[in-house]
Amino acid sequence: MTPRTDRIVVVGAALLDGGRLLAARRSAPADLAGRWELPGGKVEPGERPEDALVRELREELGVDAEPVERVPGQWPLRAPYVLWVWTARLRPGSAVARPLEDHDELRWLTPAEIWDVPWLDQDVPAVHAVTPYLAATR
Ligand code: CDP
Repeated sequence: MTPRTDRIVVVGAALLDGGRLLAARRSAPADLAGRWELPGGKVEPGERPEDALVRELREELGVDAEPVERVPGQWPLRAPYVLWVWTARLRPGSAVARPLEDHDELRWLTPAEIWDVPWLDQDVPAVHAVTPYLAATR
């Protein structure tokens, strides 16, 4: 079988710390601004998805993070993108997360607060899939 070349993987991070999930509010593009997402971005050609996750979290949040486990599933975004999600944690000594590009606000959500922010429609099923992991990291 020929490998599929018609989709581009976008990695999203369920960054967990003390039983809280990091949500990031997009500042651009205009049609996504104000909505919240799992931070992440496109995997570059030849790049391992886990490496892309670490790179994107450094670029977007200024943190030093490590992927922990893949959250089973994949969620279609605007074609040709598909979202894959990993749980992740901050490495000891990492800087505090701050919005550096793409975002204008961050929130660390407790399990009770998960649905308090207007997630991007396409992130909602992924956030559902991530919620069981919050309890596990408390
Ligand atoms: O940072 P980079 O340019 O690699 O990627 P991005 O612009 O952050 O994300 C690529 C595409 O995936 C955009 O269309 C985002 O809206 C979408 N995306 C998403 O729907 N949900 C996420 N959690 C992350 C990205």
